[in-house]
Amino acid sequence: MSTGKKATVVGAGFYGSTTTQRLAEYDLFDTVVLTDIIEGRPEGLALDLNQSRPIEGFETTVVGATTGRSGDGYEVIEGSDVVVVTAGLPRKPGMSRMDLLEVNAKIVRQVAENVAKYAPNAVVVVVSNPLDEMTALAQQVTQFPRHRVLGQAGMLDTARFTSNVAQALAVPVSAVKTLTLGSHGDTMVPVPSRCTVNGAPLADLLPPDKVEDLVVRTRNGGAEVVALLKTGSAYYAPSAAAARMARAIAEDAGAVLPVCAWVDGEYGISGVYLGVEAEIGATGVRRVVENPLTEPELAALREAAEAVRAKQADVADL
Ligand code: APR
Repeated sequence: MSTGKKATVVGAGFYGSTTTQRLAEYDLFDTVVLTDIIEGRPEGLALDLNQSRPIEGFETTVVGATTGRSGDGYEVIEGSDVVVVTAGLPRKPGMSRMDLLEVNAKIVRQVAENVAKYAPNAVVVVVSNPLDEMTALAQQVTQFPRHRVLGQAGMLDTARFTSNVAQALAVPVSAVKTLTLGSHGDTMVPVPSRCTVNGAPLADLLPPDKVEDLVVRTRNGGAEVVALLKTGSAYYAPSAAAARMARAIAEDAGAVLPVCAWVDGEYGISGVYLGVEAEIGATGVRRVVENPLTEPELAALREAAEAVRAKQADVADL
């Protein structure tokens, strides 16, 4: 049955290929396009994924396409409802996400120019790092309305926080609710006041120093995986988060998710891409959802906004 929905994933590395698999297995899109500049890689992965359809039982067609640096081959993304940008280098052990800034800015700029040209009505979900800066850059280059360009970080960081809490208390992940806001980096703001286990505040279950340990582990969640892998960075949890966002967009779901969104007055913060909760639908961010925070959490969120603001302004020159 045709759904009329089309998604594109740019970058057929670990993050892009797992995101494509998840999107295809939702069986929500008619077509999921996977592109990369490495000749044959997206086509090969698409063929492989399509051959999994009889076993997994989905009808979505995956189309792989190699694109040239000058943009040739991008016609294949025409008509996409959502484009997930995963192109870019991942971290190596010891690197911060910010170390990727210059090299990934060139890649994201090239991708964004072509997305603007060939999929002018798409909602763009950026996942390339450093996330907050690459999201801002993609919006600047595409000149899409800000609500139509968002970044994936908060869902992943929140999932890591939840997983860490569940592991520490030996409870199912489904019993735990957590939240992280702020940046996808050093000024990430895990929000303990919004964390519950079976409805009980986390603060009633663990002493402050143990909560702080979980916050620190969450903030370093990406680096913890990078250090173990030694080559490349995490992709299972990140792709789950990105695919879930793409799904909320395609389904016009109105789901409230932690994402990197343009903030315009919420929490007394304006003019910056920042990790906040937002209602997600076919137009991208329908609205930023403002929930009560403690004074220290609000202060940390404002600090995060100032930390990323200057860097986001700088990306225009990269
Ligand atoms: N256009 C399309 N694809 C590109 C381009 C480009 N201009 N430049 C690079 N790529 C592709 C690479 O060829 C590679 O296949 O992006 C892919 C990146 O894949 P990986 O190296 O496996 O990296 P991955 O783990 O997928 O991470 C991608 O997500 O989490 C972030 O920090 C991470 O920025 C990184 C991105």
